Amino acid sequence: MEAQPTRFMGHEMPQALRAAAGQLAAYLGGRGEDLVFVENATTGCNAVLRSLDFAPGDEILVLSHGYGAVVKAARYVASRAGAKVTYAPIPFPRTDDDAVVDSVARTITPRTKLAIIDHVTSHSALVLPLAAIVAACHARGVPVLADGAHGPGNLDLDVPATGADYYAGNCHKWLNASKGCAFLWVQPEKQAGLHPVTISHGYEQGFLAEFDWTGTRDMSAYLAVTAALDFHARLGGPALRARNRALAAEGAALIAGRLGSETSGGNVAANAMGLVRLPVTGEISQPRANAIRGQLVAAGTDLPINEVDGAIWLRISAQAYNEIEDFSRLATLLQSELANQLA
Ligand SMILES: Cc1ncc(COP(=O)(O)O)c(C=O)c1O
Repeated sequence: MEAQPTRFMGHEMPQALRAAAGQLAAYLGGRGEDLVFVENATTGCNAVLRSLDFAPGDEILVLSHGYGAVVKAARYVASRAGAKVTYAPIPFPRTDDDAVVDSVARTITPRTKLAIIDHVTSHSALVLPLAAIVAACHARGVPVLADGAHGPGNLDLDVPATGADYYAGNCHKWLNASKGCAFLWVQPEKQAGLHPVTISHGYEQGFLAEFDWTGTRDMSAYLAVTAALDFHARLGGPALRARNRALAAEGAALIAGRLGSETSGGNVAANAMGLVRLPVTGEISQPRANAIRGQLVAAGTDLPINEVDGAIWLRISAQAYNEIEDFSRLATLLQSELANQLA
């Protein structure tokens, strides 16, 4: 790229980008011509939200556990159109697949123009029954933008099989790709009229042309996704994902057992993240959760700790490099660091 920038950008990069998109799409069960690269899931969701037309009184449905940044993007788009954001409550911590589908269905009204469904929720680490939710939304004429930030490399994912109209996913989380490597997959019939957040030379030349060039930038993270896919496969692919799921469940149960607490659950599918309720005495709030996290950072570790629906929960992740001993050490640290705050 640096030796011959114009040759690279003009002649080598376009084909290389499409080849990488093809490989990534194949891994996701789809076709390269339905997939474009974006920097992150937030950008992918913004591209969809900012391409659609909303009228005063229209509604954008999000989940009560929806990712904060994406909900803000929905609020921004809604506020500019005089539309509003509605929230489907997620039952938690005893989450039930059918109850989630039902909650989304009951939140839909004749004014609902889009539903944004997190495939794996962030603070609560739930794998939601995306295909069933999409079916319920489509039955009411509502298209679905799936926020799959935590999907690729974590779930056994077949994107077209979810039925979602749009699926934004990150490769820089569970696929171990370089930071700034994500994708937006779009159903063929929804591609016309979809635009990247940055309009550039590709405008009016079709879905791929619009997204493949949004101005000069370093495409390395996109092109290197092929190496990340190879690496993920070498580590075991589906076997690695199954191992990480089992380890996250085992790690969460271990910590919950040591703290005399509970894990979240219900009948939702497992993933490589687990949630443990922190049985702390006193105030339950996000500032308190932040203060506890700060204390653990000072003690040499870090993990997401959030207030979710009236309790404080810590989220663990099990990656290829983790062993059960890591979670045992975390439990020991929690017991000593938080000794005077635990119930
Ligand atoms: C559900 C969900 N959506 C979106 C994002 C944002 O991802 P990114 O910062 O890569 O855009 C996250 C990040 O954790 C997430 O959990």
